[in-house]
Amino acid sequence: MTFMVSEIYNRRMADFIEFIDVYKSFGERQILDGVSFKVKKGETFAILGPSGTGKTVTLTHVVGLLKPDSGRIIVDGEDITDMTERQLAPIRRKVQLVFQSGALFDSMTVAENVGFPLVDMGLPFDEIERRVQEKLRLVEIEDIADLLPSELSTGIKRSVAIARALAADPQAILYDEPTTMVDPLISQTINNLIRKMQKQLGMTQMVVTHDIANCAEKVADHVALLDKGKFVFVGTLPELYSSKVPVVAEFVEEDRIRFEKDQEYA
Ligand SMILES: Nc1ncnc2c1ncn2[C@@H]1O[C@H](COP(=O)(O)OP(=O)(O)OP(=O)(O)O)[C@@H](O)[C@H]1O
Ligand SMILES: [Mg+2]
Repeated sequence: MTFMVSEIYNRRMADFIEFIDVYKSFGERQILDGVSFKVKKGETFAILGPSGTGKTVTLTHVVGLLKPDSGRIIVDGEDITDMTERQLAPIRRKVQLVFQSGALFDSMTVAENVGFPLVDMGLPFDEIERRVQEKLRLVEIEDIADLLPSELSTGIKRSVAIARALAADPQAILYDEPTTMVDPLISQTINNLIRKMQKQLGMTQMVVTHDIANCAEKVADHVALLDKGKFVFVGTLPELYSSKVPVVAEFVEEDRIRFEKDQEYA
């Protein structure tokens, strides 16, 4: 009996994020056409797909910024589909979304940006300062604490956004195109950070990207390919590379060609 209870408990704990048959359209356009997937606790799960396929739309559903037309979304064992903004607040502390732009406040220093969510939570000043230092160190940017975002490169801004996401000690981080519009060297730094969050903090992570070679391959345990509103592939990277499904093989081939072209120009 004890065995059975722990079995059920373990199974329930194993998935941190789950989409069950999610549909979403804007006007006439069906963006998500029955999407189901599970992200296990502590893994990094990448969603691949060409531009405009609904990757960002999928990610924003995880924290309830968008609501599905139908289907269910489960986060850490709770069905968030019909939650109110007030009910979603603790979910959004637990699951942090890092936007492509970083969405930093221009008039605040790096340290103030990272501490901002904590001020909002009403933590005492000493505790905020301690945590900000800890997060800056973790992301390896403690030397730029007093700079303004305008003084930073796109790559470093992404690191600051990651540090800010860490401020509230989340259990999961969702990254939207973390390596887009930065050179391969910076991409490597960001990929290493994403890996570090998983390895060192046991973070559950989702990464949305159109880039296999410079991103998904470096960070993901499992990948999914979104095409015309459906997940046409879910599996490991070796499985992705050896897939014979035409739409999957084509996407992989295009990525390879793009990667080789980048190598030529680098
Ligand atoms: N709030 C919205 N209202 C109306 N249409 C939207 C909204 N959000 C997204 N869309 C549309 O949904 C489609 C999918 O958008 P989404 O941003 O998820 O694409 P994506 O896969 O992230 O693309 P990219 O790689 O360019 O970031 C796009 O055609 C977009 O215009
Ligand atoms: Mg997007």
